[in-house]
Amino acid sequence: MPKPFSVAVLVGSLRKASYSRKIANALIARSPATLACKILEIGDLALYNEDLDEAPPQAWTTFRDTLRNSDAALFVTPEYNRSISACLKNAIDVGSRPAGKSLWSGMPGGVVSVTPYKLGAFGANHALRQTFVFLNILPMQQPEAYIGNVADLLAEDGTIKSKDTDAFLTKFMAAFAQWVETHRRDG
Ligand code: FNR
Repeated sequence: MPKPFSVAVLVGSLRKASYSRKIANALIARSPATLACKILEIGDLALYNEDLDEAPPQAWTTFRDTLRNSDAALFVTPEYNRSISACLKNAIDVGSRPAGKSLWSGMPGGVVSVTPYKLGAFGANHALRQTFVFLNILPMQQPEAYIGNVADLLAEDGTIKSKDTDAFLTKFMAAFAQWVETHRRDG
């Protein structure tokens, strides 16, 4: 079997009990064998400041090295004030610099937005997609994934209680695997 495509999974929440992280883990558990998905931690990245790029913090270098070696990125985002969280935007910014050395360009990307509320974090989902335009991340368009009322879908241990959601997450990952294969950078 050919080597699986490596997928950096970015979770836009830093809290331990994060619903977004639970959904990210559920997606990883459902990824087809053609993908090797792993959460790329973003919590220790210093806030982006161009001055620091003269001698980049180790955490930035480690993050950038992982991204450079990734075939695709899957973003699992909560919604903060109808947009994405600061930590997720910071990770995107760190990966986009120094100028002219963005690691995102041409990368296939997936977006899953997560909220305990009804609107499915649509605002965050699309704010993220807006950054993709400039970054030249190639977003999978369908199926869209707006995971609303997430607290009702998860058991205490993070397993998915809802059969429909379980099937949807599986379908999403199958489509994403296809997307990555079709749009991979060296393809
Ligand atoms: C929120 N929350 C929220 N939810 C939402 O659906 N739309 C929103 O605009 C916001 N805004 C917002 C701002 C800030 C600063 C916080 C901390 C929270 C609630 C949010 O969906 C909830 O806290 C989730 O549990 C966050 O995701 P994680 O941490 O569970 O992954």
